[in-house]
Amino acid sequence: MKYPTSLRILHWLMAAIIIGLIIIGFIMSNTPADAPHKYDLYPLHKAFGFIVLLLLMVRVPTRFRGKIPDPSSTLKDWEVKLSHLVHVLLYLSMLSMTISGFLMNSTYPYVQGLDLFGLITVPDITPKSEFWNGIMHTIHSVSAWTLTSSLVLHLVGVIKHRYLDGPDSDVLKRMI
Ligand code: HEM
Ligand code: HEM
Repeated sequence: MKYPTSLRILHWLMAAIIIGLIIIGFIMSNTPADAPHKYDLYPLHKAFGFIVLLLLMVRVPTRFRGKIPDPSSTLKDWEVKLSHLVHVLLYLSMLSMTISGFLMNSTYPYVQGLDLFGLITVPDITPKSEFWNGIMHTIHSVSAWTLTSSLVLHLVGVIKHRYLDGPDSDVLKRMI
């Protein structure tokens, strides 16, 4: 049995955007503050990050209302528990990255709103505050590492079940 089509589409669309955001995010934060191109990638990162926030609002209810396949019967008990834990961590990190990112922008004193590709500006929802901007920045940076490490575990699991455990344990079939 496979994941429902809606969850499969959301999974791959969001996976592609999120992997891009992680790479761009680390490039942004590692570019020296005085580099002339320092802020070139910020608008793109923020706009795609906001799209992930919107997609999550569809994905979370779809995931918790719909039926998903039972864990493969060939998996050991600890593998089922670990994969469940990693999926929970991935969902929590996606929520914390998008919410902290949006609030970091909303509290940042030197911008007004969030520009979506020059089409519309999403209004701020908080007062401007250096203090809260710093807190949101810290949450965004810590969550970036939770997300990246859960994603590495996620990919190791997928590769192990596909290539080391034999065809009956291949979980990739359930998501494509
Ligand atoms: C799932 C969505 C997102 C992912 C995976 C993501 C990923 C990242 C990563 C990996 C970094 C570098 C962290 C560090 O080294 O400290 C970063 C930085 C940043 N992100 Fe995101 N982000 C997301 C959403 C957002 C959103 C929605 C916004 C704002 C609307 C945003 C704004 C920023 C900003 C301004 C920085 C740079 C902070 C700095 O200059 O150090 N991000 N992001
Ligand atoms: C190339 C990269 C990726 C591959 C090959 C991949 C593969 C998979 C597979 C095969 C499953 C099904 C696991 C099962 O049957 O139990 C799955 C589930 C899942 N994946 Fe990924 N994934 C990738 C990237 C990502 C990314 C970037 C995220 C989010 C940050 C993510 C979040 C999830 C979540 C939350 C689930 C659980 C599904 C649910 O319960 O809704 N994946 N992934």
